[in-house]
Amino acid sequence: MNRKSDKPETRCIHAGNTVDSVTGAVMPAIYTSSTFENEAFGVPREYIYSRGDNPTRAALERCAAELEGGLQAFGCASGMAATAAVLDLLPAGAHVVVPNEVYGGTYRLLTDIRAKSAGIEASFVDFSSPDNIAAACKDNTALVWFESPTNPLLSVLDIQAIADVAHAHGALAAVDNTFATPMNQRPLELGCDIVMHSTTKYFGGHSDVLGGLVIVSDAELGERLSGVIAITGGVAGPFDAYLTFRGIKTMALRMERHQSNALAIAQWLEGHKKVSRVIYPGLSSHPGHELASRQMDQGYGAVVALELNGKQADVAAFMNKLQYFAIAEGLGGVESLVGHPRTMSHSRVPEDQKDTLGLTENLVRLSVGIEHVDDLIGDLDQAL
Ligand SMILES: Cc1ncc(COP(=O)(O)O)c(C=O)c1O
Repeated sequence: MNRKSDKPETRCIHAGNTVDSVTGAVMPAIYTSSTFENEAFGVPREYIYSRGDNPTRAALERCAAELEGGLQAFGCASGMAATAAVLDLLPAGAHVVVPNEVYGGTYRLLTDIRAKSAGIEASFVDFSSPDNIAAACKDNTALVWFESPTNPLLSVLDIQAIADVAHAHGALAAVDNTFATPMNQRPLELGCDIVMHSTTKYFGGHSDVLGGLVIVSDAELGERLSGVIAITGGVAGPFDAYLTFRGIKTMALRMERHQSNALAIAQWLEGHKKVSRVIYPGLSSHPGHELASRQMDQGYGAVVALELNGKQADVAAFMNKLQYFAIAEGLGGVESLVGHPRTMSHSRVPEDQKDTLGLTENLVRLSVGIEHVDDLIGDLDQAL
């Protein structure tokens, strides 16, 4: 397929998809083979060994590269495997600049695991001003890594401005685009070097498969990543790659409903007397609303954070009373979930930092699903 639509619905269905020339199958086969026979001695075929490359994973990778406007994508076993692969591009002892608000697993990977195994040093700063990032950069800064919107406080960061600062200091700019999805925002087109996804979330979309992606637009960077991932081996297996590829087909449609539900819920919560604060980039009360409106082209994502009036006991009672929102880690599936970042996704953030960051006792995170919005609002209403 040579036609390349700029419409997300069409891109999700056709990006990277090829009809099988032998069978006419419109979907890729699940190639379970770990190895591929050479045509003859010294004459390998396109595929050699599935850790290096696998046809089912390749279908996912073609699709993801096209959706993000990149050149090459790499299907990994999880979002964390994808993040780890990016860190493996850095020399030992490299310095990384990261926002104060970053996914808890990324924080631990940087500050614990890779600090010990590779001497990685991370500086955590407030990314709301590019000057703070510039001030944190050192001679050995190799990477500026960030998310937008952030997890769980949904701060919106200026991707283009941050990429410019990173490049001015000779560092790579990498974005965890999990919350936004390429339906809304394509960081490579805004000047970043690397995009990473936890495809466990909106790409897979059904809470039934783990996965990650790294996407780049530079061939030399792609070559280096390919070497890293083939040797460290955290690749997506063929079944998982297939499920993720399948999930992508409906990502544009799902995001449309996820986001219209999230906006309606955020607006409804804003008027509720038991709710002291609602954080959602789609609300005009959100400090990053204007930037999000420029940077995100289809919507504002589907995570809504709120703070309840009252004590932690009230928060527990509220979460226990919800019926459609399951209390669970994770986000991005068709079903709605509710989490308590302080004790769940971000429990490992040091206690003193939780308050500084705003991970309060009363903060609740909703992953808004694609159920009927009236049912979701009704559920929130009875629980409040
Ligand atoms: C923003 C973000 N990045 C990365 C990850 C890690 O992804 P995975 O759980 O697929 O390893 C998560 C998981 O929740 C996430 O929310």
